Amino acid sequence: MPTVALVVGSLRKDSINKKLARALEKTGADLFSFTTVAIDALPLFNQDLEEKLPEPVLRMKEAVAAADAVLIVTPEYNRSIPGVLKNALDWGSRPMGEGVWAGKPVALAGASGGSVGTAVAQSHLRSVVTFLGMKLSAQPELYFTDRPELIAPDGTVTDEKTKGYLRRYLE
Ligand code: FNR
Repeated sequence: MPTVALVVGSLRKDSINKKLARALEKTGADLFSFTTVAIDALPLFNQDLEEKLPEPVLRMKEAVAAADAVLIVTPEYNRSIPGVLKNALDWGSRPMGEGVWAGKPVALAGASGGSVGTAVAQSHLRSVVTFLGMKLSAQPELYFTDRPELIAPDGTVTDEKTKGYLRRYLE
């Protein structure tokens, strides 16, 4: 079974993007083996730290390197991607020539409470992952407008239409 490294761009305990990531994990459990990549303990990127990479950076890079593909699920912050996600992408690209993103297949997804559901953030993210040399799965796109009746807090998809939508995306 192919392995997928899940990167979530929100650190919040009750994050709707964490919930969407769990829903994707549950919906695609027979298709992929998912591992969640921890980005919450990464220090702010500082090139001075590159000579001896901090432990959380090493762990993140190992987790991504070991996976067959990457799935990024992220909120939109001020019409772009959250700083914590950009920080993780920057760390994973360094030191020069030792990055872990290049050549990895990647898919993007995101949840918001509003109707345009992370479209602008994902558009920015497309530029970044393309620059990093990742193999972007451009279609289908996944812009999820969160409603409590669609996915339960533990990531169980409680709405059949949503289940089908997530399933088609994963396939
Ligand atoms: C937001 N939010 C937001 N939503 C959106 O659709 N477009 C945006 O540009 C922004 N900007 C923004 C900035 C900041 C700093 C915050 C904290 C929030 C709202 C956002 O979609 C909402 O808070 C989500 O619930 C955040 O995702 P998680 O943390 O629940 O996964």
